[in-house]
Amino acid sequence: MSVAISIRHLCKKYRNVNAVQDLSFDVHEGDIYGFLGPNGAGKTTTMRILATLLRPDSGEAHVMGHNVVTHPHAVRPLIGYMPDSSGAYRDMLVVEYLEFFAAAYRVPIDRRRRVVDDCIELTGLVDKRDALIEGLSRGMRQRLGLARCLINDPQVLILDEPASGLDPRARIEVQEILRALGAMGKTVLISSHILSELRTLCNTIGILDGGKLVYSGSIDEALARARTKLRLEIRLADRHDEAGKMLMETGGIVEISVGEEILGVELPHGTADFSFVAEALVRNGFRVLTIKEEEVLLEDAFLHLTGAGA
Ligand SMILES: Nc1ncnc2c1ncn2[C@@H]1O[C@H](COP(=O)(O)OP(=O)(O)OP(=O)(O)O)[C@@H](O)[C@H]1O
Ligand SMILES: [Mg+2]
Repeated sequence: MSVAISIRHLCKKYRNVNAVQDLSFDVHEGDIYGFLGPNGAGKTTTMRILATLLRPDSGEAHVMGHNVVTHPHAVRPLIGYMPDSSGAYRDMLVVEYLEFFAAAYRVPIDRRRRVVDDCIELTGLVDKRDALIEGLSRGMRQRLGLARCLINDPQVLILDEPASGLDPRARIEVQEILRALGAMGKTVLISSHILSELRTLCNTIGILDGGKLVYSGSIDEALARARTKLRLEIRLADRHDEAGKMLMETGGIVEISVGEEILGVELPHGTADFSFVAEALVRNGFRVLTIKEEEVLLEDAFLHLTGAGA
């Protein structure tokens, strides 16, 4: 797998704020990489550096092998950057706006209409093609921002919170567009605060906190690391109370909680094989309906890895 974005020891300071500190990570070609972190973590700063809009103080960043500081002209045609906020151009039509950017990217005039129409279609803006930008809803503007990023058919997309401020349905629609882009083989770096949004979208995530990377890897691995304890949810046909007492006497269990529906069993961190629980229940004549591991919420993983949940 070749590397689409490579960041090494990147640093950026604003007066006395270390926005990005010694940041290093790779995004591979074809990845949809989720870039997470609380407010002020340094996500936008990193993305602006990648987009050649901001110079780092030290360290290096490469996009498709080109250094963003020394060769910005080689980088720009390869990327589509969607900033976290975009204003202006309110009195233009959607189609005019996109044609303007197509011209700026020097898309040949005979292909321009076609390219613009393709982007309009991909982002679901067909109905709004001849609408004034001023009258677009937030979700529609977000789509327009995406359409604009796609005008130059970039290999790498750098999207700063493309789904922020959208309602749940619009979020899902934006996710679908991003998934389609992933399927087209594009590399996507997408920032967000909302982990659950990235769960179905991204194969890899990086978590930034205070300008430093606290995690980079798969979502599953992040969840596993954040799992400080193992909790089982057991449903029995009856006698949850008695089963709880019996299990507590069995040993190897940290805590039991007896609920109406569920018998919660907490096992020590690192317990891999919990078959002894089922075995003890069955041996003692309890009728086991289901046993499942409680899910670690991505939100918990996030808090844990950024130290906020400690
Ligand atoms: N132009 C600037 N001047 C001074 N400080 C800045 C500037 N831009 C960002 N910062 C500071 O740098 C740090 C990182 O900001 P950045 O915008 O990169 O974070 P972020 O992860 O994108 O946050 P958010 O989730 O709020 O978008 C913050 O402490 C911020 O206050
Ligand atoms: Mg930001």
